[in-house]
Amino acid sequence: MFGGSGEKDKLANVFQPFVNQSANFLARKPSRDELVNTDSGYILYLEDITVSFDGFKALDELTLYIETGELRCIIGPNGAGKTTMMDVITGKTRPDFGTAFYGQRLDLLRLTEPEIASLGIGRKFQKPTVFDNHTVHDNLELAMEADKRVWATLTRKLNAEERDRIAEVLDIIGLKEEVSALAGSLSHGQKQWLEIGMLLMQNPLVLLVDEPVAGMTKQESESTAELLTTLAGDHSVVVVEHDMEFVRSIARRVTVLHEGRVLAEGPFDEVQHDAKVIEVYLGE
Ligand SMILES: Nc1ncnc2c1ncn2[C@@H]1O[C@H](COP(=O)(O)OP(=O)(O)OP(=O)(O)O)[C@@H](O)[C@H]1O
Ligand SMILES: [Mg+2]
Repeated sequence: MFGGSGEKDKLANVFQPFVNQSANFLARKPSRDELVNTDSGYILYLEDITVSFDGFKALDELTLYIETGELRCIIGPNGAGKTTMMDVITGKTRPDFGTAFYGQRLDLLRLTEPEIASLGIGRKFQKPTVFDNHTVHDNLELAMEADKRVWATLTRKLNAEERDRIAEVLDIIGLKEEVSALAGSLSHGQKQWLEIGMLLMQNPLVLLVDEPVAGMTKQESESTAELLTTLAGDHSVVVVEHDMEFVRSIARRVTVLHEGRVLAEGPFDEVQHDAKVIEVYLGE
């Protein structure tokens, strides 16, 4: 079919750009922002999420959307399904049915827990899990390296960018003065902030925070309100909390969960005066 070798070369030249292009395409890892497409303005889409434990529905067709950069408070009586909702988002619990998307492209139900975390959904549990025997600085450094070889990193020198990031996070969480203190010596509130700082070291897009001010003093609670408010915008922040004074102080939009469903949603003052919400709280 081909005349001579010259003909073959010509053909190869025609195809070469395409070959290169596809090789480039395959070799290039898409960035996280390309994967987590938020062009629509929303970062989390939960629809009809149902989770049953032995026939009991902890979530019952829960539908909830979180806007990019918003600070959303989720409230509701004990057992409403708040923590279970976070478990679904982080891949810890798989729903019986429903859909959960992270941005427009990523199906959370098809990703593993570590994949979800490394794609930028950070979660803070109620009990701080800082390394007590390490300094505040080293806790942040370890968090930055969490998905690399953790313990080998303490012997390695940090580059300028990493040092800057640690300084920046120390500033955000208000622990600059404590940089060399052992995490074990921090107050309860400071440990909680350090843990938020450890999440920030991984540059999350979404922060899920379950009952951040439980056990805090009033002043610590106020500082936490300030911290979470600062983080919104750059991050999408979802906060579950029972402390209504705290919720009032930070809330823009509040979602009330009850029996695994959304009972009410809107600005704090509106939700607070909602007859259904009042009934659920008084009936507790
Ligand atoms: N692993 C599990 N096995 C069985 N039941 C569970 C499990 N996890 C949660 N539940 C039940 O599901 C319901 C919802 O629990 P969940 O922890 O999500 O509530 P919550 O809104 O976070 O409550 P709280 O405000 O007390 O933290 C509760 O009735 C709880 O007992
Ligand atoms: Mg809970």
